[in-house]
Amino acid sequence: MIRPERPGDEEAIHAVHLAAFGKELEPQIVDDLRPTDAYIPALSLVADDGTRIVGHVLVSRGHVEPSGDTILLLGPIGVLPERQGEGIGRALVEAALAGAREAGASCVALIGDPALYERFGFVHSEPLGILPPSGWPSRPFQVAVLSPEADLPQGRVVFSDAFPA
Ligand SMILES: CC(C)(COP(=O)(O)OP(=O)(O)OC[C@H]1O[C@@H](n2cnc3c(N)ncnc32)[C@H](O)[C@@H]1OP(=O)(O)O)[C@@H](O)C(=O)NCCC(=O)NCCS
Repeated sequence: MIRPERPGDEEAIHAVHLAAFGKELEPQIVDDLRPTDAYIPALSLVADDGTRIVGHVLVSRGHVEPSGDTILLLGPIGVLPERQGEGIGRALVEAALAGAREAGASCVALIGDPALYERFGFVHSEPLGILPPSGWPSRPFQVAVLSPEADLPQGRVVFSDAFPA
């Protein structure tokens, strides 16, 4: 079951990312974002197998410069290593995109391996006018367009300060 994070889930979410990534960076990003304006409670989603949390994805708020328009950013996403390859990651991404669409977003952006994310409809963002954050390479910065008729935010993406520079 995919559901929004609830109070009390914080430790399990931290543990999922620590196990998935093998380092503190990603779980710390989630912990640091939670108390900020970038955090969107309805878009912090856990995969709950009925006994424990086995996966988590965060969609948070960033903005583009110079307009200051909001852009939603997906990540981190992690699944417990022993539960990878069962479709949990796909379910989390699809739920995150559906939630972003319901929230009225025109797109969701992320940094990641194009070989992983193109299957979910993500495309290179720069040709669509969405530039990677300063100092980041262009190709891994991708966007899933949720509403083809809506105007996409245009400009250079700025992540929340909780993300590493
Ligand atoms: C990436 C991750 C979230 C995927 O979760 P998962 O539950 O294993 O993924 P699923 O079983 O739903 O697989 C989804 C699809 O992605 C593919 N896939 C999974 N991991 C992949 C990877 N690292 N590279 C390329 N493709 C990958 C699967 O083959 C599957 O493709 P298909 O549906 O076309 O058959 C998980 O492997 C993980 O936590 N990895 C460590 C953390 C990480 O790297 N996060 C992403 C950082 S950008």
